Amino acid sequence: MAKLKLAVLISGRGSNLQALIDACADPTYPAEIVLVISNHAEAIGIGRAANANLQTLVINHKIFSNRTDFDREMTAAMMDAGVELVCLAGFMRLLSKEFVNYWHDRLINIHPSLLPAFKGLDVQARAIAAGAKFSGCTVHYVRQEMDVGPIICQAVVPIHVGDDTNALTARILMQEHVIYPQAVRWIAEKRISINNEKVDLDKPIQSDSTLINPVG
Ligand code: GRF
Repeated sequence: MAKLKLAVLISGRGSNLQALIDACADPTYPAEIVLVISNHAEAIGIGRAANANLQTLVINHKIFSNRTDFDREMTAAMMDAGVELVCLAGFMRLLSKEFVNYWHDRLINIHPSLLPAFKGLDVQARAIAAGAKFSGCTVHYVRQEMDVGPIICQAVVPIHVGDDTNALTARILMQEHVIYPQAVRWIAEKRISINNEKVDLDKPIQSDSTLINPVG
């Protein structure tokens, strides 16, 4: 079967890009990365893409006078490459209404909190500061409002006494690298449907196991 064609949009480190590259290295994985776009030439992720012999494109947002023109440039490149699903992976630019509409239900993001809790930036530090006992990560479809959109998959991690932001960020990131490729797989396998802005997974394995933290 033809593989789902992905674009991955990055601004920096690209560890989620790497997780997708690694997943795509499995010949049975149903998706392939056809384009990596970064708005920063020096993004570490661009090196990861080059190492994997992927087509890369740097579009410096600073040379555009407005957001829509920058986004149009990205859409044109993705259309040329035949992109079917856009994966935001640490892409630090707000997207125009036109872009989000054009890629409606074909645009996903990974966020390092259990949405709808802790939208925005510095979410790991804010979860610790709030005294939350769990955090995690969310893969979701992108809508106009930031960090809002049908949730595909989440992973939960504990917040331990004494955790600093680095410790929690690392614990969450490990799970991001698991659920992002998994969510893309489900989309490629056409197991996902969106009904009333909620995602249904076809034939999920459901578990009632409960997590408690801390355990006294
Ligand atoms: C991740 O924490 C992701 O959830 C957030 O940005 C970070 C990107 O990290 N959207 P990386 O560039 O994939 O390593």
